[in-house]
Amino acid sequence: MDIGSKNWAYVKSEYVFFKSFAKDFNLTGIELDAYRMYSNFYNRYEIAKFYTKGLENTNYIAGDLLEHKGKYDCIIWVLPFITEYPLVKWGLPLRYFKPEEMLLHAYKLLNKGGEMLIINQGEDEYQIQQELNRKLGLSSENYGKIDDVFGVFRNDRYCLKVTN
Ligand SMILES: C[S@@+](CC[C@H](N)C(=O)[O-])C[C@H]1O[C@@H](n2cnc3c(N)ncnc32)[C@H](O)[C@@H]1O
Repeated sequence: MDIGSKNWAYVKSEYVFFKSFAKDFNLTGIELDAYRMYSNFYNRYEIAKFYTKGLENTNYIAGDLLEHKGKYDCIIWVLPFITEYPLVKWGLPLRYFKPEEMLLHAYKLLNKGGEMLIINQGEDEYQIQQELNRKLGLSSENYGKIDDVFGVFRNDRYCLKVTN
């Protein structure tokens, strides 16, 4: 599962990654603000439908993670909102700022032995993420800064993995 998928423009990379070592799998993306419209009058949902076309068992859900039920072996969470400022800049109301609740809920969606890969932006966020994990008693492996192989990151990105 991918959390906070936006328009899921990167779904194919996730699909190809999982396909490389799993024969059968389902890939689910969930996005709270799925009907946000772009200047070309397509919304995120429509764009995600385009990007998921032809990818078997791939499903984009317009919904709130906190209301989502299910069980997953692997969760990918790229740039969760763990401070208020990015969430507000993104255009979401502050009532959606619930980093602890979100993280715990995501953790509960993991199967036993399941893994959640979290990518944070900037060292400060990475530190806050580690503190959050500790506070919630979640064991995590902290991998540090990741290589910007394609040269597309505006800011440094950091990675850690939470295992159930
Ligand atoms: C910083 S963006 C990252 C988008 C995408 N993962 C990427 O890397 O391009 C965080 C995304 O999480 C979504 N989000 C925030 N709260 C959410 C929730 N409760 N349920 C589902 N998605 C949520 C936001 O709407 C936003 O699209």
